[in-house]
Amino acid sequence: MDKNYFIEKLEQRQVDPQESKGFWDNRAKEFYSFSKKSRKDSTIEFLKGFMDLKDKRVLDVGFGAGRYLKLLADEGAKVSGVELSSEMMEYAKKYCMENGIDVEQMELYNIPWEEVDLDRLNWRNKFDLVFASMSPVLDSYESIKKLIDASKQGIFCSTHIVMDEDILSKVYEDINGKEYSSKKESFWYLFNILYLDGYYPNVRIEGGESQLELSIGELLNRYVNRVFSDTPSEKDLIRLKESIKKHEVDGKVIVNMKRKNGLIYFEK
Ligand SMILES: C[S@@+](CC[C@H](N)C(=O)[O-])C[C@H]1O[C@@H](n2cnc3c(N)ncnc32)[C@H](O)[C@@H]1O
Repeated sequence: MDKNYFIEKLEQRQVDPQESKGFWDNRAKEFYSFSKKSRKDSTIEFLKGFMDLKDKRVLDVGFGAGRYLKLLADEGAKVSGVELSSEMMEYAKKYCMENGIDVEQMELYNIPWEEVDLDRLNWRNKFDLVFASMSPVLDSYESIKKLIDASKQGIFCSTHIVMDEDILSKVYEDINGKEYSSKKESFWYLFNILYLDGYYPNVRIEGGESQLELSIGELLNRYVNRVFSDTPSEKDLIRLKESIKKHEVDGKVIVNMKRKNGLIYFEK
């Protein structure tokens, strides 16, 4: 099998980090609210099947609003992180502090992963675990190799496999006149690339159903990149807002979600 085929497919989704920064800034509050809601999360349990996280050095790439900075610190790991969005960074610090975690002890950088200089930071082969949960850095082969370069042992990565949301399907069809595909292929590409590079990825597929209650603004930010493949015009955004508004009840929209996520752990 040709690795380049999978790399090309994987990188189709790749976006310029500077261009996506605003998108993630806009979603920071939404991610912070998710972090605060205690949800069943099998990622840490999955990882503990491979290593005891106590006192381990862990690097979280694309840490968002800090959900896993906290969960990893709770396990006794010494956590560092890299995050593109300054808003996410602020919410992550707030979230950790609210949970009694000393963020000063964490080495956190507000910088795109692509710009991290492993040698300058002395990060080459440094971390017991390099961790990238649902991170767009996994859409680039160069960035994946860099995750591996920063690790001295383990690498964790996860991607969505199915992201089914009733409101997204309706809104997508409303705007684009065709069915939304909730299946994501990147997990399959990622697995194959790693395997063809000589790694042995351990895999778990986990899933669940949940309900979200979001404002029109939060849903606009959440759906804009999924509904439009190109940068939307002002007119497109108004259409999207109108379409979302059809589902509004008392200023909120209830979204029913069904998801499947692919978790991967492998060693160097
Ligand atoms: C879907 S969120 C996942 C957040 C968190 N890891 C989690 O699982 O809850 C993706 C995060 O990756 C960040 N991100 C996107 N591109 C990045 C890049 N090139 N370098 C570093 N972080 C990036 C985004 O700002 C966002 O916070």
